Amino acid sequence: MADIEGVKETKNYYPEVPASHEGFHLKGAHQLDWGMRNRLSKIFRPSTGRTVMLAVDHGYFLGPTTGLERIDLTIVPLLAYADALMCTRGILRSSIPSTFPNGVVMRSSGGPSTLKELSNELLAVDIDDALRMNVSAMAVQVYIGGEFETQSVRNMTTLVDMGLRYGVPTMGVTAVGKELTRDARYLGLATRICAELGAQVVKTYYCAEGFERVTAGCPVPIVMAGGKKLPELEALTMAHNAVTQGAAGVDMGRNIFQSEAPAAMIQAVGKVVHELMPPAQAFDLYQTMKREQELAAARA
Ligand code: R5P
Repeated sequence: MADIEGVKETKNYYPEVPASHEGFHLKGAHQLDWGMRNRLSKIFRPSTGRTVMLAVDHGYFLGPTTGLERIDLTIVPLLAYADALMCTRGILRSSIPSTFPNGVVMRSSGGPSTLKELSNELLAVDIDDALRMNVSAMAVQVYIGGEFETQSVRNMTTLVDMGLRYGVPTMGVTAVGKELTRDARYLGLATRICAELGAQVVKTYYCAEGFERVTAGCPVPIVMAGGKKLPELEALTMAHNAVTQGAAGVDMGRNIFQSEAPAAMIQAVGKVVHELMPPAQAFDLYQTMKREQELAAARA
């Protein structure tokens, strides 16, 4: 029996204080259920509404691409600086410490390798396993304009339905094939389709002209994919442009793990994303941290 001795009778219901109904730090998410918003809060920092998501899922169609040959050696040391990690379940189970406290966005589609038609993907994860792995979101590639466009959209809507059943958000990843132009018109079309059909987050590429129209036209948060490796200052400038033009952060891979100093680079990206540090200043910081790292390595 519960101890009922000495229970205090005096109560205060604060009748003069209205119950709070605080907003939420992400657009389009204020009417989602608690579990989904809690998961989104593990990806997007409540204090800034933005994320530095580290994308290392490339192996699902590329194999051991440069920088990802040994995830345990090159990526695990970067986790301390990532708000969220995007990876496959194979890498999550085999190589990522289960003590990682931040968001995990699980790549949930797959099938073809670079040797085949990439848009011919299917879902590659069951919701049961996503829940078992306690992921914060599931990610699916959407090939608007691609050969298997409808199939990839169907993959996304299936994932959205499964996710809604259990409070797991879906991130629609707009894929661009070699033949598709990465302009605001195309990216606006692809991101809007993902949001209209239920994705709670959309990942897309940056475009120099009209990116603010892409983010404004998408009713849910957009995270910017990094794309091919650029010189560090250019990558930091692109990240700065994206967040000041409405992106809710970045989901960057090669521009971090293929950098000469990945730990310095991800920290510089963090300064840009969360503090809107000007790119030149973030680049100085990158160079300072890189030098310190080199000196420490020379002393060891
Ligand atoms: C590509 O399909 C993968 O999903 C990557 O997560 C995505 O391209 C982001 O990585 P990166 O910044 O290297 O483009």
